[in-house]
Amino acid sequence: MYHPSEKRYSSMPYNRCGKSGIKLPAISLGLWHNFGSVDDFENGRAIVRRAFDRGITHFDLANNYGPAPGTAETNFGKILKKDFGGHLRDELIISTKAGYLMWPGPYGEWGSRKYLLSSLDQSLKRMGIPYVDIFYSHRPDPDTPIEETMMALDYAVRSGKALYAGISNYSKEQASVAIDILKQLGTPCLIHQPKYSMFERWVEGGLLDVLEEKGVGCIPFSPLAQGLLTDKYLKGIPKTSRAAKSSGHLQKSEVTKEKIEIIKKLNAIAAERKQSLAQMALAWLLKDKRITSVLIGASSVKQLDNNIDCLENPVFSDVELLAIEEILKKA
Ligand SMILES: NC(=O)c1ccc[n+]([C@@H]2O[C@H](COP(=O)([O-])OP(=O)(O)OC[C@H]3O[C@@H](n4cnc5c(N)ncnc54)[C@H](OP(=O)(O)O)[C@@H]3O)[C@@H](O)[C@H]2O)c1
Repeated sequence: MYHPSEKRYSSMPYNRCGKSGIKLPAISLGLWHNFGSVDDFENGRAIVRRAFDRGITHFDLANNYGPAPGTAETNFGKILKKDFGGHLRDELIISTKAGYLMWPGPYGEWGSRKYLLSSLDQSLKRMGIPYVDIFYSHRPDPDTPIEETMMALDYAVRSGKALYAGISNYSKEQASVAIDILKQLGTPCLIHQPKYSMFERWVEGGLLDVLEEKGVGCIPFSPLAQGLLTDKYLKGIPKTSRAAKSSGHLQKSEVTKEKIEIIKKLNAIAAERKQSLAQMALAWLLKDKRITSVLIGASSVKQLDNNIDCLENPVFSDVELLAIEEILKKA
């Protein structure tokens, strides 16, 4: 039987999410990979338990996570039932999303009210819970009026099936409109989930400013560029890595010689800081106070522990920051 660590709240910082009442752990765990029906259930369960023991209260899912799509939610539901009974649910922030393809026909993806609300019902059923804490529009829909998508999020909250609304992969312009509509509807947007890492910096071109101005939190996904921003690919592509797996979203073709040269240089700076590269990449994102939490993935408890330990050295000197910028100019 699982007994969560009594020290679980002793070292993780919790940051206020925008101007809301919710605080999120500096590090959150995503279940995109490693929790599907193709994965080892007990490994995933051990990762979730260890995460909670170390103060990670926020677990991020989506309808399509697996593979097979939906099975990460099913497995997470099993973990909740086995290990997080009683009042422990009240210590968790569980999010899910809808936006990508889940079922055939015209109502199985994108941003219509029909799709979003049906999908949320399916997610709750798979996880075996009456509500999620955050329900996201996973991607903007070019064909559905943004008002319809936001009204569906508002309804999800009013119906009690979600406590907060979020958006993901929205540009600064789309985010600005979406946030204003949600505000008018009386359901403030809690958070935006964009892709952001040392290798993917589009959010610095105005999105972070919009979120700060409007009091919305930011939780970057793939902060390690799916594992590239670690030392794992420095000597080739390990057989068990995401780039080698058929179910992994990181393509072998993305592990280029040029990228590896850059990673080696970043790794050297991390070593001088007495950190792993993964730790430096996470600390580098968290130094910006507009970042509420970084949303990591992990395929083992060891990786999870390594990543959480980034909190031991969060400060960068100007010299280090300049050196990193010089390297990233070539990325
Ligand atoms: N909103 C969206 O559209 C969207 C899209 C993608 C992801 N997300 C969310 O963001 C979460 C994180 O995304 P991500 O998994 O791509 O994040 P990531 O943290 O960039 O990559 C995680 C992967 O990197 C490797 N790794 C992690 N720590 C390591 C370490 N210390 N040493 C060596 N390798 C390490 C592992 O891959 P190996 O298998 O190679 O070990 C791990 O599965 C997802 O689970 C999901 O919740 C959201």
